Amino acid sequence: MKGSEMPNMDSFLVIGHRGACGYEPENTLRSFEKAIALGAHMVELDVHRCRTGELVVIHDNRLERTTNGSGYVAEKTLDELRALDAGGGERIPLLREVVERVGVRAAINIELKGAGTAGPVSELIERTVGSGGYDTSHFLVSSFDHRELARFAEINRRVRIGALVEGVPLGLAAFAQELGAFAVNAGLDFVTDEFVADAHRRGMRFFVYTVNHPEDIDRMRRMGVDGIFTNYPDRASP
Ligand code: G3P
Ligand code: CA
Repeated sequence: MKGSEMPNMDSFLVIGHRGACGYEPENTLRSFEKAIALGAHMVELDVHRCRTGELVVIHDNRLERTTNGSGYVAEKTLDELRALDAGGGERIPLLREVVERVGVRAAINIELKGAGTAGPVSELIERTVGSGGYDTSHFLVSSFDHRELARFAEINRRVRIGALVEGVPLGLAAFAQELGAFAVNAGLDFVTDEFVADAHRRGMRFFVYTVNHPEDIDRMRRMGVDGIFTNYPDRASP
């Protein structure tokens, strides 16, 4: 791929889930480095806002599962969060740090987890694109919170969005088209030929999370999906 752009969307996209969290502590710089080393075309990460307003990269809204801290991320200052161990001595990274570290080596899927993340994420992407070396297609912004995603799309019409869903919606991919999404990001247990075909018919890509078993990776390829989120990018890389 040309460094500053999204990888070729016509080929099967390998997306490193929370980096390469099958090998390294999830959502840490070490995990993103590992994903790139293992051939991921894109890295996926989760974003929350902390009490002092910074965007931090962590999956849960609480700290217990992935760090040695406790309580809600949204109630902690950045200094409090930075003092924690996010696994193997890694720190909870700022979104800005991950974007800088990944650079043009892989595209970035930013999942809006926390409330109020749409605006600041848009600002960060625009600053990054503005500073050169990137195209807006370097980024894909997604969320299960379709209202937050719609807010993002309202603020920023240039950056592609992925509509996350767990389950099969009554209208198949219609909800994602309504959001103006570039992609449907669907859960593995709910992928059907009909759902994939409907997304494609509506002009969208179809990405599937989280696909770790080699049999499922092969099955997804055969079904014609456009890419997968995986904890083990090496299993899906050619
Ligand atoms: O974006 C795909 C996947 O990350 C969504 O689920 O819970 O791992 O954030 P989760
Ligand atoms: Ca995620």
